[in-house]
Amino acid sequence: MTNASMKPSLAFDVYGTLIDTHGVVTALRSMVGAQAQAFSQTWRDKQLEYSFRRGLQQDYQHFGICTRDALDYTCLFYQLELSAAQKNELLAVYRVLPAFDDVAAALAQLQQRDIPMYAFSNGSADAVEGLLQHAGIRTYFAGVVSVDALQTFKPNPAVYQHFLAQSGAPATQAWLISSNPFDVIGAVNIGMQAAWVQRSSTAIFDPWGVEPTVTVSGLAELVGLFEN
Ligand code: LAC
Repeated sequence: MTNASMKPSLAFDVYGTLIDTHGVVTALRSMVGAQAQAFSQTWRDKQLEYSFRRGLQQDYQHFGICTRDALDYTCLFYQLELSAAQKNELLAVYRVLPAFDDVAAALAQLQQRDIPMYAFSNGSADAVEGLLQHAGIRTYFAGVVSVDALQTFKPNPAVYQHFLAQSGAPATQAWLISSNPFDVIGAVNIGMQAAWVQRSSTAIFDPWGVEPTVTVSGLAELVGLFEN
């Protein structure tokens, strides 16, 4: 799979790929009851929409603002009046979301193979650093590549080019690892390799006629692609 003369560089998406955004469901249950799962999904969908729209509108605010505004929208959508303290509690949980169960072991195995790995996120560098530290996985990464420097969001091609510039990897050796189809398509669009992590059997890949380089069901399966 890989060119023997050069190691691949791996760009790991963060929210939804390494870090489980639905980790807020437990906190939500005590506030919104049985609607917690649906609330979490609407919140996440709206957060992404707000980031895309801010990118298109050239009105960058960091991802945490998109998350906060999307929470307000979701409360309006479900006609739930959460107090400012409850919203702050949810946003605090968002800053310490858990990693998926398969993440630490897979990163450790890849690190043993000396494969350079980066966290590559629409999140601000501060937020991503905090999440990775809290989840105990920061040490696996050579660096955090954030959109902050560019003031726009994935899937703007400039963001993927920024990763190539930061990592020094040619596109043919640079792999995006992401559960987010929009992200995979964005990477393939500029000639990068991309692994789609299909974290749920019901997850749908956008039918745009663009395919991931590979599809894996989780990070354990990913490790097998990068044998020495
Ligand atoms: C990330 C979100 C968009 O870039 O998944 O981490």
